[in-house]
Amino acid sequence: MKNSNQVILQEISKLSTPEEQWEPYAWFTHMRENEPIQYDAEQDVWSVFSYDAVKKVLFDHELFSNKKQRSLIPIPHEVDNRSNVNLVDPPEHRKRRALLAQAFTPRSLKDWEPRIQEIIDELIADMEGDTVVDLVDKLAVPLPVTVIADLLGVPSSDREKIKAWSDILFLPYNLDAFTDIEQQKGQAMQEFAQYLYPIVVSKRADPADDIISDLIRAELEGEKLSDQEIVMSAIGLLGAGNETTTTLLANLFYCMLFDRPGVYEELRANESLIPKLVEEVLRFRFGATIDRKVAQDTDIFGPQMKAGQVVVAWIGAGNRDEAHFEHADTFDIHRPGKNQHLTFGAGPHFCLGAPLARLEANMALSAFVKRFSAIAPVEDFNVSDHLTVSITGQSLKSFPVRVSR
Ligand code: HEM
Repeated sequence: MKNSNQVILQEISKLSTPEEQWEPYAWFTHMRENEPIQYDAEQDVWSVFSYDAVKKVLFDHELFSNKKQRSLIPIPHEVDNRSNVNLVDPPEHRKRRALLAQAFTPRSLKDWEPRIQEIIDELIADMEGDTVVDLVDKLAVPLPVTVIADLLGVPSSDREKIKAWSDILFLPYNLDAFTDIEQQKGQAMQEFAQYLYPIVVSKRADPADDIISDLIRAELEGEKLSDQEIVMSAIGLLGAGNETTTTLLANLFYCMLFDRPGVYEELRANESLIPKLVEEVLRFRFGATIDRKVAQDTDIFGPQMKAGQVVVAWIGAGNRDEAHFEHADTFDIHRPGKNQHLTFGAGPHFCLGAPLARLEANMALSAFVKRFSAIAPVEDFNVSDHLTVSITGQSLKSFPVRVSR
């Protein structure tokens, strides 16, 4: 694998069953306690698991660079272009990020709230009459893809196609099906780009109030972005805003039903607790990982890391570090102080979409508790029947939940 530019996460963790990948937390604890800085010789990749080390990797762009040749990001490399905000370091990064930052300021999001509310209301109306609702199919998938398509100015009626393409682009590689996955990604990328290209061309002639039009108007170092660069940025945003937020929405309900039964009633009695619940879900149940390239030889964590090697920051493990969070393995929405989880990253690349993801989760949950008096697991619910492979390891592909009005 040393010669491949794809880092395969599963080959580091050796967590092989879907259930182990869905609940990697015992392994995280083992690694934090026994091998907090791990070296995988097979892939020539370092891993860090403690809160402080994860944060250091994310913050210190001089030691740990985003200009990667090898990565665990499963998106084909064409996305790396002048307008890609992620695969670049400061100071260059600042200019690229500024192109997009405008769209995600709290003020811009305020303008979007009525539209997001409308989408949520439609989705909840669509549950009318059901006593069992598949929350993935009816809420966690359609909400983020509709919102991000609207924000970009792409027809949200095409959401199924958009979702299908971005799912393939985010599908993690595994050794057994490497070539097949690669081929699927190549095709999805081509189809997605062909779909977006005419949209970009028509907006160039007739710009509107959306992110694609903003990118058309924007300049980077005195030069306009090409159609191709805008298409690639749009693919990046449509993908980034999708699966992650779907996972958050589905996990909100999983945590309420299985990690802390009773918390739904608490929210109904006091809706101001909703943002605290959302933050605790992000901390508690999000197996995210981010990688960087070691930019210069360093022994900052003890062992000698060499320039060019890859380092993986296991965010999900950092978020369960007892040294930072008391009773880290307990789901507790009443944690004192600020819940500084690392799920949206940290430092220069801190997630641009974090305010949007938080807004969608808070608004969806607020509408849900108003509409439904109680939620309960369906009889014989077995999580193994509902898992699918995803960038965070495993996520819920369906989640039937009993609801009362
Ligand atoms: C729960 C949902 C989400 C999670 C957990 C999440 C997580 C992350 C993380 C960990 C990073 C840092 C990457 C790095 O350090 O290299 C990131 C960056 C980013 N996210 Fe999100 N994200 C979410 C939702 C969104 C949404 C809704 C959007 C909107 C389109 C978005 C757009 C981006 C962008 C553009 C970046 C790159 C920022 C940069 O490199 O400067 N994300 N996200």
